[in-house]
Amino acid sequence: MNDKAHFIPKIEGNVVSSFQTKWSAPSNIALIKYWGKKELQIPCNPSVSFTLDQCRTTTSLRFQRIMDKQDHVSLSIRYEGNPAPYFEPKVKTFIDRILPYAPYLRDYKIQIDTVNSFPHSSGIASSASAMATLAAAIMDLEKQIYPSLAAEDRIKKCSFLARLGSGSAARSVEGPLVLWGKHTASPNSSDLYGVRWTKAADVFKTYRDTILLVDKGQKEVSSTVGHNLMHNHPFAENRFAQAKARYRDLLTILEMGDMDGFSDLVELEALSLHAMMLTSSPYYILMHPNTIQIIQEVRRYRKTTGLHLTFTLDAGANVHLLYPAHEAEKVDQFIASDLRKYCQDNELIYDRVGTGLKKV
Ligand code: DP6
Repeated sequence: MNDKAHFIPKIEGNVVSSFQTKWSAPSNIALIKYWGKKELQIPCNPSVSFTLDQCRTTTSLRFQRIMDKQDHVSLSIRYEGNPAPYFEPKVKTFIDRILPYAPYLRDYKIQIDTVNSFPHSSGIASSASAMATLAAAIMDLEKQIYPSLAAEDRIKKCSFLARLGSGSAARSVEGPLVLWGKHTASPNSSDLYGVRWTKAADVFKTYRDTILLVDKGQKEVSSTVGHNLMHNHPFAENRFAQAKARYRDLLTILEMGDMDGFSDLVELEALSLHAMMLTSSPYYILMHPNTIQIIQEVRRYRKTTGLHLTFTLDAGANVHLLYPAHEAEKVDQFIASDLRKYCQDNELIYDRVGTGLKKV
């Protein structure tokens, strides 16, 4: 199913005059990073992620059928109960992009109510979880209109729609691990949507992710700008080839339950992402001095204890600490005594690998 035309409804649907639905979706953390895209979030290299559990967006959508079809869907958005017009441009762009695949949306006016489980100003991007909830709610409406479509196709289409909002959102639909981007090592993988990957050894399906909030502010350079800077990047082709090779290696590491191999590869991958930022034109630096301190301490701790505490980074200063559940007691003590001090206002978020979307 590597053809986007597959996602265009081709049959006559039911008339649904009003419908309300509520979904909760988690954020995710990439182990192999998506960095560089062709238009509309077609990734330049495949990525692999852990789906998270606690960092979630919950969104309810109310669809009201209107008499005349519209060119642009009329929306109203509330965030934490208050009108949030500042979210409208992003959601409008998303809806416009998905209209060819969800033309029935032209018949509705949509009211959106959304909340995040994590603080808005935490430096944790909510676009992945938020876009996944919107896609899920729209697919739920689609289910009422076209009840005969297969459930498996619906999940793929949900990820497909979410991707059109934000690339990494394609990976927030299912869990515990998701592959997104075509790769010969995974025959069912696609550039158009994420797929659940269940072959990892059990130890990785319960991994912890404690997020150290080094900087709770907005990122200086958005991911969209960062992706664009890969277009004329001198190392772009090598980077894409590197990510493809690491993808294959990581799947083997995950299948074998090789936690040492996991630490080495995942950390290298995080630093390779930031190396792209350091060497783009213009260059930029998202790590803070405390990010580097944490990285040094994590490496020292792993060497002296033999435990499997591992760091990864997204496009920001915050640090995701990954470790197996059976080591959590000791590692959590170390985080509290030695690492928490590097966080802004001592704030961190305890999360773990999760399963994806939930209907509320
Ligand atoms: C560094 O998905 O936020 O977190 O597709 O432009 O919305 P857009 O970008 P986004 O990029 C995520 C970049 C990353 C790596 C990753 O999640 O794979």
